Amino acid sequence: MFNHLEAIPPDPILGLITAYAEDPNPKKIDLGIGVYRDEHGNTPVLDCVKRAEKIFIATQTTKTYLGPPGVAGFNSAITDVIFGAQSDAVQQRRICTVQSPGGTAALRIAADLLKLTQPDTGVWASNPTWANHLPVFSAAAVDMHSYPYFDAVNSDLLYDDMITALQQRGPGDVVLFHACCHNPCGVSPSPEQWLVIADLAAERGFTPFVDIAYMGFERGLDEDALAVRLFTERCPEVIVASSCSKNFAMYRDRVGALSVVAETAQKAADIESVIHNITRPNYSMPPAHGPHVIDIILHSEELTALWTEELSSMKNRINGIRKTLSDKIAASGIARDFSFLARQSGMFSFLGISVAQVRRLRDEYSIYIVDSSRINVASFNEANMDYFIEALAAVLDQ
Ligand code: LMR
Repeated sequence: MFNHLEAIPPDPILGLITAYAEDPNPKKIDLGIGVYRDEHGNTPVLDCVKRAEKIFIATQTTKTYLGPPGVAGFNSAITDVIFGAQSDAVQQRRICTVQSPGGTAALRIAADLLKLTQPDTGVWASNPTWANHLPVFSAAAVDMHSYPYFDAVNSDLLYDDMITALQQRGPGDVVLFHACCHNPCGVSPSPEQWLVIADLAAERGFTPFVDIAYMGFERGLDEDALAVRLFTERCPEVIVASSCSKNFAMYRDRVGALSVVAETAQKAADIESVIHNITRPNYSMPPAHGPHVIDIILHSEELTALWTEELSSMKNRINGIRKTLSDKIAASGIARDFSFLARQSGMFSFLGISVAQVRRLRDEYSIYIVDSSRINVASFNEANMDYFIEALAAVLDQ
């Protein structure tokens, strides 16, 4: 049965976890996978999560199955956080939200839903996009296409080209957007540009699909949901895959959700039943721990306030690192301009160096970066930044 199978190279992002762990160099730096790190290089459990976990453990009375939708309190609370509790779509119950094992599962369920409802549909993703988007949609046999997004020369948004490409899309097409903190390039449309994009979606009739995995890491919770809210106000149907991995720092607990905005409450209920039919033969029912904990946080004013404070301090630390790194590189004698690092947002930016230079950083300096030259800015701290800049200068031959 399996003798003809050949080993597959490790995933470009996840493969770095093992390579880094096995490297004995004490100066090693992991700039690979997108996880937040504090000044000491740790990814701590948030205090709000620790406190909610205590409540959860003390009050849990059963571990019987949750049922297909997952934790109802989580589903409604996360819907309010993303769409705004007072929004028309929430008030009119036109959104179905189903808890999923991480944002990746939300994407995959949505891909299965698209394939089921409209087998010929195509999904247009930004060029570039998260390295796992293509595999996720391809696994569901959904055709993937791309639209221009990142201007690698100026490390900026290719706004005009993007708009021209989106003007070609229409009913039956699905266009995938990153709500904030674009992964991998760190460049987002401005609020004014999102308005134009949302108007275009309404005018052209394509279906917006928003991946919101870093909500709270760019400008703030409500600000980072702007794209979702503009699309929801304007378009009859919107798909949203959300993740709580980063903003609750609950990576390994796998908490995410798929939300679908429909034209009527009845249609949203119908869509939810189809989603349950998709998840049942897959993982049957979602896990309980993470969503229960978030349910407790979001239903406590005190814990919600603590969460937003902790989230905001993660965001501020990343923005501080961006500025310091950009300033230090400029002061180091490296001639190339890296000031874009301070202008971009979220965990990721492209360094814009070649694969050969990325490999040199790994092989000669134990600095781990995805081959695309995407770095996780959150991994820098006072102890490792100068070493990184020296290594960067060396591979740039400066
Ligand atoms: C990343 O892009 O590094 C994160 O989203 C983690 C992952 O699963 O790839």
